[in-house]
Amino acid sequence: MIFEQLATGGCRSYLIGCGDTCAAAVIDPELSQVDRYLALASNHGLRIHYLIDTHTHADHFSAGRQLSRRLDVPMVMHQSSPAPFVDMRLGDGESIALGKLRLKALHTPGHTRDSMCLLVENRLFTGDTLLIGGTGRTDLPTGNPEALHDSLFNHILRLDPALEVYPAHEYKNRDHTTLGQEIRDNPRLQRRDPGEFVQMMRNLNLSMPTHLTEALRTNLSGGKTIAQLLSEAAALVSFMSLDELRARVDAHDAGILVLDVRERDAYAIGHIPGARHLPRGQLELRVNDELPDPTLRILTVCEFGRVSTLAAATLRQIGFQRAIALDGGMKAWREAGHPVVSD
Ligand SMILES: [Fe+2]
Repeated sequence: MIFEQLATGGCRSYLIGCGDTCAAAVIDPELSQVDRYLALASNHGLRIHYLIDTHTHADHFSAGRQLSRRLDVPMVMHQSSPAPFVDMRLGDGESIALGKLRLKALHTPGHTRDSMCLLVENRLFTGDTLLIGGTGRTDLPTGNPEALHDSLFNHILRLDPALEVYPAHEYKNRDHTTLGQEIRDNPRLQRRDPGEFVQMMRNLNLSMPTHLTEALRTNLSGGKTIAQLLSEAAALVSFMSLDELRARVDAHDAGILVLDVRERDAYAIGHIPGARHLPRGQLELRVNDELPDPTLRILTVCEFGRVSTLAAATLRQIGFQRAIALDGGMKAWREAGHPVVSD
């Protein structure tokens, strides 16, 4: 088996492949690692056949849908996944073939209703059902501590103790453990009594994950994250640095139109000398009147450099082929001591 483990902060994802047939799958792919999965697969001479999420993630962004559409291969989840874009829904005990490898799904609800573990040879990919020295939490949507107790004690922990455990999260840089080690050392697994276990899980008082709303929205719908929108916009435009623009402002370069796309109040308080004002929210409405010449070299500016990137991308999409964005925003411009004028 060809095997790669990738860490994205505390998230773990896995590329596994059959060395004989070059067929591969990615387990719990993370959005920021898309290029890395593709590069690793080609490095190993593998072709990705499946993208698999062990459950609906509430704390990070899955790349499953995006990669499955890009590669035209199935997105795989448990049959109870609420996501409409899942192509292959696995029931408990079902396997998918990866060349000569078999990935067997074990339904392990508890962390979420749609959680599953995947058994491949001597490796058990436990998602957030079982972590090294811990378990997944049960206080997020569809979590259920009674179900987690059942999944762990009546199913997972009865498997071969020599199985290697590869979780979807690990915060202390350990790459795996074994079931036997977890049964012996994992503090949460010492509470074998269902009542005690459930009470412990109910009293963890964990804070909510940072990206809960956006992660659930995008992972359940297949919609894009804000970061994705921004990076797609950034891929459409080129940028000018603060220093480069400063030199052009000082030289009164007439070949560049600085377009401030913030709201009126922000513009009035302080803007780059010579900048014109057209708020992002009115760009499409007023562009024909305000910017009749599509050959203009327009440089968009906002407070932090994000909305200006979206504005420059919009301008490019409607035919301003020389639209560019400031690499940074007014905040950075002011902090660098560059000149600002007010109305
Ligand atoms: Fe999770």
